[in-house]
Amino acid sequence: MADLGGGGYHWQAKELVDDWDEMQRRVEAEREKGFRRILDHLPADRSATIRIVDMGAGDGKVASVVLENYPNAYAVLVDFSGPMIAKGTRELRSYGGRWHYLYWDMNEGEFPEELDGPFDGVVSSAAIHHLKNDRKAWLAQQIAARLVPGGSFINYDLFRDPDAVFDEEDIHGRTCATIDEATAFMRSAGYEGILADTRFYVETQKGEMAVLAGHVPAR
Ligand SMILES: C[S@@+](CC[C@H](N)C(=O)[O-])C[C@H]1O[C@@H](n2cnc3c(N)ncnc32)[C@H](O)[C@@H]1O
Repeated sequence: MADLGGGGYHWQAKELVDDWDEMQRRVEAEREKGFRRILDHLPADRSATIRIVDMGAGDGKVASVVLENYPNAYAVLVDFSGPMIAKGTRELRSYGGRWHYLYWDMNEGEFPEELDGPFDGVVSSAAIHHLKNDRKAWLAQQIAARLVPGGSFINYDLFRDPDAVFDEEDIHGRTCATIDEATAFMRSAGYEGILADTRFYVETQKGEMAVLAGHVPAR
């Protein structure tokens, strides 16, 4: 059984991945709003040839929204869950040769050479909150160094309610950042125009989903 101690390792369990469609369905309308908002932070020209990375891509929902709306986009999907990668590989088939998965545990090691960029945008949804805060700050820096001038890092994620009290075994309480903390990581990494919006509170997780985005300087 996958480790439930944080770091996102529970997503390597097939049983959880089998439940993922049902879990999303409950918040489908809100997720859709967030995905639309992600697009607002990518280049305005939808015919542009762009390269993006989806961090903790799972079965590729966010990447597929980008591929659908940018017919000349290419996506690298980063994940470390075999069952999720298998599911996404089936579900993204219609996008042909416009994507590939890269197996990487974002908790560990150097930033992969294969992700050297430059990328027009780095997107993520419901994944980075599993990393420890110092690793989130590091990731924001690594991404900033690989974006084109003006490129954006857009993280649609869960952020802890600063006033919530968490049980010790609550994995989200262990690793989730508040929006203010996550904003500070981005500011330290040099992002500009940092904004958190499209927010909705998730009672069961004692926090809110929000699209947190910023861009590196244009020049
Ligand atoms: C809740 S799912 C979200 C999937 C997708 N981004 C979406 O919103 O539909 C979280 C995903 O993040 C991945 N993940 C979590 N921690 C990770 C890590 N340390 N390294 C790589 N992937 C990770 C999981 O394997 C899982 O596929």
